[in-house]
Amino acid sequence: MKVLQKILAVCTIGCFLLIGACTHDNQELVLTSIKTITSTPNAISQGGTLTLSVTVDAVGSTSFLWNAATGAFSDPQNDTTQWTAPDVPGTYIISVVVTDDIGSEVGSIEVPVDVYLPTVSPSFVGINNCAQCHSGITDQWNGTDHAEALATLEGIFQDNNSRCLACHTVGYDPDIDNGGYDEVPVARLANVSCENCHGPGSEHNGDPSGIAISYDANTCGSCHQDEHHPYIEEWSMSEHATSLESAGGFVTQNQNCVKCHVSEAFVGFLNTGTTPAIADLTSMNPINCQSCHDPHSHEGEGQLRIASVDLVCGECHTAGTIEDPQDPGTPHHSQWNMLHGTDGLEYDGFEYQDSPHFLVVEGKCASCHVSMEPFGGQGSPAKTGHTFEPELRACLTCHPNATDFDINGVQTSITLLIEELQAELDAAIDTESVAYKQALYNLEFVEADASHGVHNYKYAKALLESSIQNFDP
Ligand code: HEC
Ligand code: HEC
Ligand code: HEC
Ligand code: HEC
Ligand code: HEC
Ligand code: HEC
Ligand code: HEC
Ligand code: HEC
Ligand code: HEC
Repeated sequence: MKVLQKILAVCTIGCFLLIGACTHDNQELVLTSIKTITSTPNAISQGGTLTLSVTVDAVGSTSFLWNAATGAFSDPQNDTTQWTAPDVPGTYIISVVVTDDIGSEVGSIEVPVDVYLPTVSPSFVGINNCAQCHSGITDQWNGTDHAEALATLEGIFQDNNSRCLACHTVGYDPDIDNGGYDEVPVARLANVSCENCHGPGSEHNGDPSGIAISYDANTCGSCHQDEHHPYIEEWSMSEHATSLESAGGFVTQNQNCVKCHVSEAFVGFLNTGTTPAIADLTSMNPINCQSCHDPHSHEGEGQLRIASVDLVCGECHTAGTIEDPQDPGTPHHSQWNMLHGTDGLEYDGFEYQDSPHFLVVEGKCASCHVSMEPFGGQGSPAKTGHTFEPELRACLTCHPNATDFDINGVQTSITLLIEELQAELDAAIDTESVAYKQALYNLEFVEADASHGVHNYKYAKALLESSIQNFDP
């Protein structure tokens, strides 16, 4: 490990011990007085050499004797000498005895060897510290691209480019003396690691109050931004970014809503299997990076918390299953169920078939809703797909002639069927009958899916047609 040698202005240390006093009785004589001891530079690495110098107010002939428990002096009997440090890190005290005609005095200075002391607290300590007590998480992290972020720069000879290091290392910030990679360019501070997300860890050492957990999207967005990777910009435009505001904010006050509308509650649910109580949540953030992505583990594709994208989205975009077919209730956000052709109200005697998207579209929801495009040069930023809106470009591999989502007029025909069933229901006399409730369920199931037949045309069509046939106003 090498400490970055900071070439600072000469450091001055002024407070010194007086020993021996004077050997003369005459009180009127002026005592020998050490004015300053300087070390240039003020810190060095193991085996390095620095220059020490002492200035004095002396009377008559003056002699010097430098002293240290270890290391070697070039000229220990001069006012200026060089000291070569031992190859063991530590803080060393170097003293000098100055003797003149009146007496002697000793002064000392502390020299850090491979011990860099940041001026800002808390400061960055690096992953070796965290690994001592969190080896499991460290092992997981090792498998992520975050653990390779500096190697990526090395691969293209950019690992010394100051424009790149802030997002590819820990604590790189030339404006602050915080022990980051710019002060100490060593392996433990390379890459994107624990302290990029948890903040500087010097005050932690096992005390939970000395370390932070952030569910703020900006923690990720501070790096995952700009035209090369505009994740935070696109996410900010998505409805996920406003999930706390649904139903006028009621979703943050009702225990039945927080699992799918509050990031902390969703993560708590995935980690423990139960949705945490609202009272136990110390913060609330909308559905964001931390909700879908596992911060530590690369087990899931794209570092997702659940290995299958289909199930990540499907954990929230689901209507659940019908408990009582006689009174099926009101389905919401039925996208997962529709895509898979399940959980509609299926009448006896009808046949329900599926369009093949759930089989042929490999990336499921993400193929159409998280469609990426690489950075195409100035003025054509990368597309990250993080608005989560479907893109026509995602359809073209399989539907090369498509000009909009209404392929073969499918969306138009589903809209017409919705209107037809709605008209029948509007004309109903008995709105408490089982037949009415079942037909209404299917209408709302298709409407709540909101893709107008794209997710699963055959299933949507069959649910609407069978309801129209089965229901008589
Ligand atoms: C200090 C900057 C920084 C922060 C903070 C950061 N990342 Fe990254 N992230 C990167 C860089 C740089 C890479 C690319 C590393 C490489 O490929 O060498 C990356 C890669 C990734 C990848 C791709 C992983 C893979 O294995 O394919 C994901 C996913 C990711 N980050 C998610 C997140 C999330 C979620 C957060 C917040 C919880 C976050 N990042 C915080 C800089 C950052
Ligand atoms: C604002 C933060 C930031 C800065 C500054 C930055 N990067 Fe990155 N870099 C990232 C993130 C975030 C990723 C991961 C992107 C992803 O996975 O989509 C990344 C990924 C990369 C990759 C992997 C390939 C890719 O695009 O996924 C390379 C190569 C790279 N950066 C090079 C550089 C170079 C060279 C510089 C300096 C000229 C630089 N980066 C500056 C944040 C940054
Ligand atoms: C990309 C951002 C990111 C990185 C890098 C990261 N963490 Fe985390 N960490 C989080 C988030 C977000 C949570 C809370 C969500 C969760 O539990 O998944 C968390 C939770 C934790 C927790 C408490 C919950 C638990 O899982 O035990 C510990 C401990 C922890 N991280 C340690 C570490 C250590 C050690 C490292 C480095 C090896 C690290 N983290 C790297 C973002 C990150
Ligand atoms: C001396 C052992 C030790 C070291 C070193 C250490 N941790 Fe911890 N850490 C712990 C223990 C123990 C806890 C659990 C405290 C508790 O919740 O009772 C913890 C908890 C955490 C938490 C969760 C805090 C919370 O609010 O629940 C995070 C995040 C974390 N550590 C990250 C880190 C990071 C990052 C580093 C390196 C900079 C690190 N730890 C170094 C022992 C350590
Ligand atoms: C199973 C997960 C889940 C639960 C639980 C949940 N929601 Fe939602 N909610 C969603 C999803 C997914 C969407 C977006 C679906 C869409 O637009 O098709 C949504 C959208 C909404 C919207 C429409 C968004 C808007 O701003 O127009 C409102 C309002 C809403 N939810 C209210 C609630 C309320 C109130 C509760 C609790 C009683 C609740 N949700 C519980 C998943 C859930
Ligand atoms: C609603 C869930 C969701 C949210 C919210 C979300 N992501 Fe993603 N992210 C995904 C999915 C799905 C993918 C595509 C994964 C795949 O297909 O491999 C992805 C891909 C990525 C990738 C590329 C991974 C790779 O392997 O190339 C990065 C980097 C990333 N997200 C970062 C972020 C950041 C940063 C945020 C917050 C600003 C964020 N994501 C918010 C679901 C989400
Ligand atoms: C933790 C729950 C959760 C997860 C996981 C989730 N969503 Fe959402 N999603 C919501 C909520 C809640 C809303 C509505 C927010 C609002 O309108 O306020 C929403 C809204 C949306 C919308 C906009 C709906 C509209 O009416 O325009 C799309 C599109 C969407 N999500 C797609 C996805 C995709 C694709 C995935 C998986 C990559 C995903 N979501 C994962 C909860 C979730
Ligand atoms: C074959 C591509 C495809 C797949 C796969 C797919 N979607 Fe869609 N989705 C669409 C299209 C196209 C629309 C209709 C958009 C429109 O008409 O504006 C849509 C509509 C939606 C909507 C309504 C809000 C909006 O953006 O208009 C949500 C929410 C949604 N999808 C979520 C999901 C989820 C969750 C999954 C996985 C369970 C999924 N989708 C799978 C293409 C797809
Ligand atoms: C991986 C290939 C693939 C992708 C990507 C894909 N589709 Fe399809 N889609 C199919 C197949 C296969 C069918 C079934 C064709 C049939 O039954 O004749 C289909 C059927 C459809 C249908 C029903 C057409 C009919 O006449 O029955 C619609 C509408 C549709 N897709 C829309 C879309 C849209 C919109 C997108 C992009 C958002 C998309 N698809 C992306 C493969 C794909």
